[in-house]
Amino acid sequence: VTLVRRPVGAPVPEDFALGDVGLEDPGRGQVRVRVRSLSLDPYVRSLLGSGHLAEAALPLGSVVPGRSVAEVVDPGDSAHPPGSLVLAETGWRSDAVVDSAALRPVVVPAGLPPSVALGALGMPGLTAYAAHVRHLRPRPGDTVVVSAATGGVGSVSGALARRAGARAVAIVGSREKAEVATARLGYDAAVVRTDPRWLDALDEACPDRIHGYAHLADQATLDGVMERLAAGARVSLVGVIDQNNGAPATRLRVGAVMVARATVHGMVVHDHLDLTDDHVREVSDLLGEGVLELLEDTHVGLARAPEAFSRLLLGRNVGKVVVHVHPESSRSTEHPSQPRSST
Ligand SMILES: NC(=O)c1ccc[n+]([C@@H]2O[C@H](COP(=O)([O-])OP(=O)(O)OC[C@H]3O[C@@H](n4cnc5c(N)ncnc54)[C@H](OP(=O)(O)O)[C@@H]3O)[C@@H](O)[C@H]2O)c1
Repeated sequence: VTLVRRPVGAPVPEDFALGDVGLEDPGRGQVRVRVRSLSLDPYVRSLLGSGHLAEAALPLGSVVPGRSVAEVVDPGDSAHPPGSLVLAETGWRSDAVVDSAALRPVVVPAGLPPSVALGALGMPGLTAYAAHVRHLRPRPGDTVVVSAATGGVGSVSGALARRAGARAVAIVGSREKAEVATARLGYDAAVVRTDPRWLDALDEACPDRIHGYAHLADQATLDGVMERLAAGARVSLVGVIDQNNGAPATRLRVGAVMVARATVHGMVVHDHLDLTDDHVREVSDLLGEGVLELLEDTHVGLARAPEAFSRLLLGRNVGKVVVHVHPESSRSTEHPSQPRSST
């Protein structure tokens, strides 16, 4: 899938094209892989526009970047056995030739699908874990609030807060997501940000005010939470997804930070890779114990990637967005804890 037009606001399928870009034979230090499951992530929207962190904007005509769980087809001169599963930066492709040095074997606990390495046990899960241990640091009895609470990052955050003895409160975009947050992701309460009386609901859900907040949402949500911080609160600025759709730059209510003597942290997950082993162990435990349910928003076929990406940026996903590129990949990853397909 290539980018053929720069999106204006939320991306639409017409911004992309599906085609055959050809595939060279693997050279020295390269491996040919077949993509099984492709991760769709909001940061890619920045690459389609003006760029992301230090990365420049994606030139028109390029394959859209993305991480996959892929199967080694031709290992070249590498030690990766044919048929083994690896994490690879393949982009939105069905097949790819990639550098073997950049590959990581996919190892997931028994009973979980390999695609969990893209979500709860991958980069989004590490983001949630790092925000939890390094920024929010909840104590027993604290109230921790998480926005976009049923998404790739947020779906991991609630159970971590609960495990630390805190009360976990979700902010979500619909009643359906509120039900998912409390019934399946370990949140104690959920508030629907699109409800006109959502601030009253937030007050009710947080009677002792808010000690920790992971921000993954829009300006109105940030403003509402900032006015309800407890003394000494910690805030992790993780995502400003509304800006992808053309909202003005996010502003922080500095007066609220001062009054609460709060600490505000900026999150960049790449700074926290040293936590990977702890993250995988602790989140695997939560999944294994059934405290946390694996929640994926799955789509089948590479041609569905543009539409699935559009839905993600419009907030219509429930769970980590994954495209099973070949139909057999979706069958091979079927698992009782995979709750839904949005296709
Ligand atoms: N800082 C880092 O290192 C880092 C790492 C990973 C991800 N992130 C960021 O964390 C955020 C969540 O990432 P994710 O992969 O877990 O995505 P996600 O939560 O699965 O999907 C995005 C969610 O954002 C919510 N949202 C809130 N306001 C929105 C708006 N105005 N327009 C559209 N959606 C809105 C929607 O949920 P509701 O409808 O329930 O609100 C939507 O489902 C993103 O902003 C992402 O860029 C940052």
